[in-house]
Parts: sequence; C-alpha cells; structure tokens
Amino acid sequence: EGGEEAAMALPKRVRLVEVGPRDGLQNEAKPVPVEVKVELIDRLTDAGHLAIEAGSFVSPKWVPQMADSAAVLAGIRRAPGVRYAALTRRKPGVSYPVLVPNKQGFNAALEAKVEEIAVFAAASESFSRRNINCSIAESLERFAPVTEAARHHGIRVRGYISTVVGCPYEGEVAPAAVADLAAKLLAMGCYEISLGDTIGVGTPGKCVTMVEEVAKVVPRERIAVHFHDTYGQALANILACMERGITVMDTAVAGLGGCPYAKGASGNVGTEDVIYMLNGLGIEHGVDLELVAQTGRFITAALGRQPASKVAQALAAKLAA
Ligand code: HMG
Ligand code: MG
Repeated sequence: EGGEEAAMALPKRVRLVEVGPRDGLQNEAKPVPVEVKVELIDRLTDAGHLAIEAGSFVSPKWVPQMADSAAVLAGIRRAPGVRYAALTRRKPGVSYPVLVPNKQGFNAALEAKVEEIAVFAAASESFSRRNINCSIAESLERFAPVTEAARHHGIRVRGYISTVVGCPYEGEVAPAAVADLAAKLLAMGCYEISLGDTIGVGTPGKCVTMVEEVAKVVPRERIAVHFHDTYGQALANILACMERGITVMDTAVAGLGGCPYAKGASGNVGTEDVIYMLNGLGIEHGVDLELVAQTGRFITAALGRQPASKVAQALAAKLAA
C-alpha cells in the first residue's frame, strides 16, 4: 500500500501554479470588473509566478463570472509574449492557462491566443454530471478533439481531475478511479495531471494513498496537487505529497475561491500560506511573499472581504500594528 511506503526527502525546488484569477473568482456572485482581473494577474506576474490561470472558456450560463475571459486575456499588459509577440503583450516565459470543457471552448481560447489550456474531468460520476453535464466517459470523448487540436496548434494541455479523495454527492472516491482517469488524460496528451480535492475533505494519509496510486501510471514530475482548504488540511496534505516527490502545487492568492458546482467548497490553499511554509523549509519557488500578500490585499479589498489565508491575515495584522 502506498500509504505505508517510506517518505522521500523534500524537494529542493517546487513550481507554484496560481489559480486565484480563475478558481478564486469563478464563484463570486458579484461581477468583478475586467480591469480588476487584469490588475490581479499583472500583479501576480510581477510577484514572480510563471503560471497564472487566467480564466475559463465555459458556458456563461454555467459560470457567468468567467464570461469575460477573452477580454481579460487581451488586457494583460505585461511585456511581449513569446509565441504571440506581435499580437499580445503578455510576459515571456509566463503561461496564462484557461479552462476549456469542449471544442467550442477551445475555439474561443484559440481566438484569444492562449498558449496553454486545461481540460477538466472528475473522478466521480455525479460530480462530472453536475459540473460539466456529462458522464466521465463522455467528457473524455469531448476532450479528445480538444487535445488533438491543441497539439496541432502547439498549445499545451493540462489535465485536471476533480473529487480525487471525496465527492460532495458520492462521498469517498476510490484511488483506482483517479489513477484510471489520470492515465487516460496523460495518454491523451496532457503534460501534467492536477489532482483536485475539490471540497477539501482530504487528510494527509488519504492524499498520499491516492497520489501513490496515480504515481503508478503517471510519472511523479507530471503530477500536480490542487487542494482546497475547506477543512484546513491543505498545507498538511501538500507537505505529505512533497515527501512523496510531488513538486507542483496549485494555490490561490489570499485563499480565494470555491467551485460553483460543489456547494460549501471553500477556496484553494492560500498562496501566501504555501510560500510561508516553503520559505520556512528552505524550498525554492521563485515567488515573492510580500508582493503576493500585497496582491491579496488588493483583490480582497476589491471584493470587500478578508483573506482566508492565515499568513495573509498575519502579515496584514503586522502591517496594521
Ligand atoms: P451543456 O449545457 O451540456 O452544453 O453544458 P451544450 O453543449 O449542450 O450547449 C448548451 C449551451 O451552452 C449552448 O448555448 C452552447 O453554445 C453553450 P445556447 O445555444 O443554449 O445559447 N456552450 C458554450 N458557451 C461558451 N463556451 C463553451 C460552451 N459550450 C457550450 N465552451 C458545459 C456543458 C461543459 C458547456 C457546461 O456544463 C459548462 O460550461 N460547465 C463548466 C463548469 C465549470 O466551469 N466549473 C468550474 C470549473 S471546474 C473546477 O473548478 C474544479 C477545478 O478547480 C479542480 C478542483 O478543484 O477539483 C478545476
Ligand atoms: Mg479547484
């Protein structure tokens, strides 16, 4: 059993994927102006992030908050992009992936000149149905032409799997179901598989068992973890997964977010929280904590709320003292 295997040494360096502008904002009831989203992303770029999820090309009826993703991508105002130097002014070397559920979304993403997309499946049938209105098998059928077109256009594809340790409708999810889906997404051409604990119910032992099952079919360096912090377990889960050789983690500035189709799900683990832990462990990541914390204060002020991230709260309190 994976859970009983010895832990490895912690990695020297990890890669953070900032998902706040997408996962963090998709659930906001009130519209967030395009200019605010653009400033959020630009600030995250300045903080040193190399991957910032910028939006979703999904049905605006399902997720109204992401309906302006094309405008957001067009607005990102940093220096010339690599592939689209003449066409966009995005910072070279930084990717701004967007979620794409089907060919229609891919076409819109292509129009917006994205360099990377993410397809998203779920390990439980009920969640797949609620989130993307189809079965798991049907979702893979929809992704196939998307990944094929992406390859044709030189666009990188990341693969998400939701509900990897628990489903809001079905409860426990079998690690074998996650591994099976991960293998299929990898075979389809996804360069990385991001394992989502959508409702934040996982604990370190469960997450490690699940990751070890996936690692039987996906190389560890191609596995990312995407933990929501609903039950306050995300940092512990990340640490346990790093001990298993996982070096990519999704985080959201200020701990923003929640999934519209997972009631009660709270935000992703806060970027500030993860950076603080990594800094304490001496693990490199390339992102500036102070600039992220400032960005967290910017976006939470714009949303009219306090950050969920404990580190963000602590740094703000120190500032006020
Ligand atoms: P559907 O209703 O079955 O789609 O929705 P359809 O193909 O039957 O089309 C119905 C209508 O939607 C049509 O419009 C289409 O044009 C339109 P109408 O003729 O009625 O006016 N449509 C689209 N519009 C824009 N962009 C598109 C698109 N596709 C169809 N791409 C669909 C199926 C997948 C579209 C829908 O269920 C959907 O958009 N779902 C998205 C849900 C979502 O974004 N969830 C949040 C992201 S996932 C997440 O947060 C988890 C993650 O963070 C990891 C984790 O934490 O677990 C990634
Ligand atoms: Mg998520």
